[in-house]
Amino acid sequence: MLEARNVSKYFGAVTALRDVDLQLWPGEVLGVVGDNGAGKSTLMKVLSGLYPPSKGSLHFDGNEVQFHSPRDARDLGIEMVYQDLALAGNMNIAENIYLGREPKRKVLGGLISLFDHKKGLQMAKDHLDNLKIQVKSVEQKVEELSGGQRQAVAIARSIAFQARVVIMDEPTAALAIKEVGKVLDMIVGLKDRGISVVIISHRMDDIFYVCDRVMALYHGANFSESHLKDTSRSEVIGWIMGTKENVRELAHDRVK
Ligand SMILES: Nc1ncnc2c1ncn2[C@@H]1O[C@H](COP(=O)(O)OP(=O)(O)OP(=O)(O)O)[C@@H](O)[C@H]1O
Ligand SMILES: [Mg+2]
Repeated sequence: MLEARNVSKYFGAVTALRDVDLQLWPGEVLGVVGDNGAGKSTLMKVLSGLYPPSKGSLHFDGNEVQFHSPRDARDLGIEMVYQDLALAGNMNIAENIYLGREPKRKVLGGLISLFDHKKGLQMAKDHLDNLKIQVKSVEQKVEELSGGQRQAVAIARSIAFQARVVIMDEPTAALAIKEVGKVLDMIVGLKDRGISVVIISHRMDDIFYVCDRVMALYHGANFSESHLKDTSRSEVIGWIMGTKENVRELAHDRVK
């Protein structure tokens, strides 16, 4: 469905990605792991059109593609939920879901008038109901929502327009434990709708709950990958630390 071949990304003298390959199959949930600075977010930003690769190529549905902006990726159905969410706190839920994507809209004024209309609110409400996301009202401002509700709205936004691939950068990192499960179940729900998902996470619980396959980056390069059924948490934690040995203990496990 989506492939990166030999992708490198340089920021001046910094090599963030070196000859990285990634394949995402239809209907698959792929986990991407790696230490801080391993290049995970950079790779996702290349896949979603925010950064052009310095070298290498991207392929969608078997055809080479070039993205000049996230808009180009989105036109193919590739959506990204950013690490910092990128929702507009002072706008309501419905406005955030459709923000910047009302096809006939040319200026912001047009968007506002759309949501003066009952229909826009009803569409947003139906979309959230469909995804079993509970909010008091779609007219509630996003800044009033909990972290988990915000993440749910961000995911709802990503699939409001025929997404085929959703890329999520640490969707559970900032959430309280009880909200994590809801977000993970939403990800499973995307897979059930045939949407392919790439999820970056530092949490093994996330990876082992939602993913079909996991790949590890280390210092900007491919390190290892496996189907989930053929690996273990301790092996994946080892990859993050740059070893192919199973890691039995983590530092915090040793704290008495
Ligand atoms: N816009 C940028 N300009 C310069 N360097 C950058 C930029 N974005 C990322 N980098 C560098 O590229 C490397 C990879 O960063 P990236 O954000 O992709 O890591 P990450 O794997 O997502 O880490 P984390 O787990 O901490 O989010 C780092 O060395 C980082 O400093
Ligand atoms: Mg990151």
